[in-house]
Amino acid sequence: MKIQDCLALVTGSNRGLGLAYCEGLLRAGAARVYAAARDPSKIGICDSRVVPIALDVTSLADVISAVQRCQDISLLINNAGVYAGYIDTDMSAHVTAPKASPSQVVECSLAGLESGVDRIFADDSAVYVDQKVRTDRTAFDAELLQAWEDSQSPC
Ligand SMILES: NC(=O)c1ccc[n+]([C@@H]2O[C@H](COP(=O)([O-])OP(=O)(O)OC[C@H]3O[C@@H](n4cnc5c(N)ncnc54)[C@H](OP(=O)(O)O)[C@@H]3O)[C@@H](O)[C@H]2O)c1
Repeated sequence: MKIQDCLALVTGSNRGLGLAYCEGLLRAGAARVYAAARDPSKIGICDSRVVPIALDVTSLADVISAVQRCQDISLLINNAGVYAGYIDTDMSAHVTAPKASPSQVVECSLAGLESGVDRIFADDSAVYVDQKVRTDRTAFDAELLQAWEDSQSPC
């Protein structure tokens, strides 16, 4: 697909990776970006192509409303609620492991979309997650749970 002139919707677009996606789409020539956030008053991008909308991805009423309002989109970036490797945003501020920058992830994924591939991986950890989810989901869920519990344990 072409990003130039596309109409896109980005969830969680008020900060972090979602904000970087909105900015990357605008830089790449998107005609309109529906910038969705739980609180659309927090959308701070000044560009006439940006249309803020209210969308909590866990609210069925919000999702239905967004579908009705944004019938014309050709690209959905459902950023709120995805797994990725560590990306340098508020969410990973406490993480000392290597992190990708939000703009690095955005450039990589928009270029992948334009080249027509159906899977885009920004780093080795995303490749690992994709393989585990598709081949060994139950074991991977247990691995994630264990890692979460370990991270919550007092040292
Ligand atoms: N950064 C990383 O290392 C990392 C690692 C693994 C996965 N991810 C995933 O990457 C995505 C973006 O996260 P980020 O790194 O940009 O984190 P972030 O800087 O903490 O931003 C999170 C964004 O998601 C929004 N959000 C949270 N719950 C939402 C909901 N129910 N409905 C709509 N929006 C919601 C937040 O909105 P509010 O301002 O309203 O809270 C905020 O805009 C998330 O799906 C996250 O799970 C990130």
